[in-house]
Amino acid sequence: MGNINAVVNFETADDGRIAVISLDNPPVNALGHALRSGLVAAIERARDDHAVAAVMLIGTARAFSAGADISEFGKPRKPPSLIDIVALLDTLAKPVVAAISGLALGGGFELALGCHYRVATQSARVGLPEVKLGLLPGAGGTQRLPRLIGAEAAAEIIIGGDPVPAAKALALGAIDAVLEGDFRAKALDFTRAKAAAGGKPPRARDREDKLAPAKADPALLDRVGEKLLRRVKGLPAPKACLDAVRAAVNLAFDEGQKKELALFMELLTSPESKAQRHVFFAEREAAKLPDMPASVKEKPIHRAVVIGAGTMGGGIAMCFANAGIPVRVIETEQAALTRGLDRVAENYRIAISRGSLTEAEMDKRMAQISGTIDFGAVAEGDVVIEAVFEEMDLKRRIFADIDRLAKPGALLASNTSTLDINEIARATKRPEDVLGMHFFSPANVMRLLEIVRASKTSFEALATALSIGRRIGKVTSVVGVCDGFVGNRMLARRTTQAEMLLLEGALPWDVDAAVLAFGFPMGPFAMGDLAGLDVGWRIRKARGVKAAISDTLCEAGRFGQKTGAGYYRYEPGSRTPNPDPEVEKIILATSERLGIKRRRIGAEEITERMMYPMINEGARILEERMAMRASDIDIIWIYGYGWPVWRGGPMFYADQVGLSHIRDRLAHYAANSTDKMLTPAPWLEKLAAEGKGFASLPVQTIAV
Ligand code: CAA
Repeated sequence: MGNINAVVNFETADDGRIAVISLDNPPVNALGHALRSGLVAAIERARDDHAVAAVMLIGTARAFSAGADISEFGKPRKPPSLIDIVALLDTLAKPVVAAISGLALGGGFELALGCHYRVATQSARVGLPEVKLGLLPGAGGTQRLPRLIGAEAAAEIIIGGDPVPAAKALALGAIDAVLEGDFRAKALDFTRAKAAAGGKPPRARDREDKLAPAKADPALLDRVGEKLLRRVKGLPAPKACLDAVRAAVNLAFDEGQKKELALFMELLTSPESKAQRHVFFAEREAAKLPDMPASVKEKPIHRAVVIGAGTMGGGIAMCFANAGIPVRVIETEQAALTRGLDRVAENYRIAISRGSLTEAEMDKRMAQISGTIDFGAVAEGDVVIEAVFEEMDLKRRIFADIDRLAKPGALLASNTSTLDINEIARATKRPEDVLGMHFFSPANVMRLLEIVRASKTSFEALATALSIGRRIGKVTSVVGVCDGFVGNRMLARRTTQAEMLLLEGALPWDVDAAVLAFGFPMGPFAMGDLAGLDVGWRIRKARGVKAAISDTLCEAGRFGQKTGAGYYRYEPGSRTPNPDPEVEKIILATSERLGIKRRRIGAEEITERMMYPMINEGARILEERMAMRASDIDIIWIYGYGWPVWRGGPMFYADQVGLSHIRDRLAHYAANSTDKMLTPAPWLEKLAAEGKGFASLPVQTIAV
């Protein structure tokens, strides 16, 4: 509790010569209204106190400040604004030092940029991540940072949005010193020295020297833009970030700041930013279990065991190794084990060749992974993750063996993507320790982890799985036991429609083009070719289901990229999909054989039939309580399947489009189709009739 208000404290050191203003608004010093008004009061007090010769602003060990309070966006803005605070700092004749430990992000870093000096701990990170919320730094950041480090470096930080470690920030000139030892004391020494030096404190807004290269070379920022904006396909925020930096170069400071604010206000009401802010909170909510008693403690995890050294097993082992957790990989045969571990090493080598990993780091990670063909090693694991072939009998046998050997209380997880976890759990005498941990391929890259809660899974097991997910850098969502769980269950609806579109008149490249235009990184057919068409074929055969076109392609040996041909044709060594007249012939012949009269299908219909049936399935998933929140489904699709983040996920998107429209379109398609799953789901009907959206649904517990 501070003495200015609940979150700001004012004290003095050196017999009143130095004012120390502490920010303490847990957890991350978000600049909410109380913090902003407390800061103004404290800064004014320091300004008006004649004894005070210098001021130090300091946060907590975790954060100087993580920026504006995102939950206040979209609500009426209550003064003072952050711009007012920084403008106040600009009027001070006494030096103000920002002492940064932990994070200084967004508005938090802009506050620091408004101070005359910045010092940081070695582990501190600073940055302007607003672009990830579909915004730009709106409190002078785009004007001050270029003046401190040059327009090119600033544009990279602002458009990239990633935090910069203290050492790099120092080298660039964004901060003035990295201090070791007792940080508060050292920062106070720094402030004392600045007070003693006297003179007019330097303001970032007055600097012009670092802007010189961009002023001398008007095409410089065009080139930077070309490089940085290519990846973000016409999104408004990255482009606005560049425009704001351009304004820093071309306009006087106050004009530049006006331009920045105008761009910020435009972005604030953009649908992209609304979606990205939704995703920010949805991601954090997804990791919470509403019925988890507060007393539940996660179990300590020191060692992991992964059963199976295939693509999934190897990728999962990498997740643990990357997080510094020793992991044992078990295979039945030495040859398979060697192959699996070689593949892991190869993946790391690719990362080195791309410059994202060092040799030393690779050695450290490989040292965490050890292989064995001795199943007894299961006993070493605090968590055991099974990642073998998708076959129930095999999995049941393995879990019975795990049950015999694993240490009491170990978390027992299956990476199955299709099988019933309850049945797997029944193979053990400790079903309370069993759950699903469904990783997405490639497991070391994809951020999503579906945690499948079976009927006997204990809260302790769930808490432990959630904690593992956090440690290995995954975005987690707890889901229920059903066919395909949440993600693949929805995907199945899209796959059915994709095949039907081909039979009715579209070609794979038409469908993929519509899905790409929507914002996915890949269309369903190019994705099928990448994953291998034989995988689905095998599952369909086992289930006695048919998919006329995909089956025909597989019968012709066209399994996708690995055979050089699938829905597309591939040149040797290339992953570029080329439309193939052979495939067109196969499709046309199949339509004819099935007596389907082909017609021209436009992009709008393709997009609707790719997205709406998935949303419909999402409504069923919610009704069955297989997901806790509509926003969890959004997170699953964004982090597991490449749903464009700026569209906020399928259920958020549905709310934006309007559920009655989606219901009507589904009803229209259902009336003309044999796909019964197109019929609007009861919850979609109900919400549409009430004029509500999925966001209105309360959080629910998973049905078990
Ligand atoms: N506003 C509101 N709440 C925030 C917040 C923010 N800026 N940053 C974090 N939080 C909340 C989270 O929602 C979470 O709340 P719950 O515990 O209730 O779920 C809590 O703080 C802890 O956050 P994390 O779980 O994410 O903790 P972490 O240690 O994994 O990550 C972080 C910390 C890196 C700061 C991360 O939260 C983050 O990236 N925050 C957003 C930073 C950001 O984008 N700042 C810019 C804001 S926009 C701005 O500043 C505009 C401007 O120019 C004026």
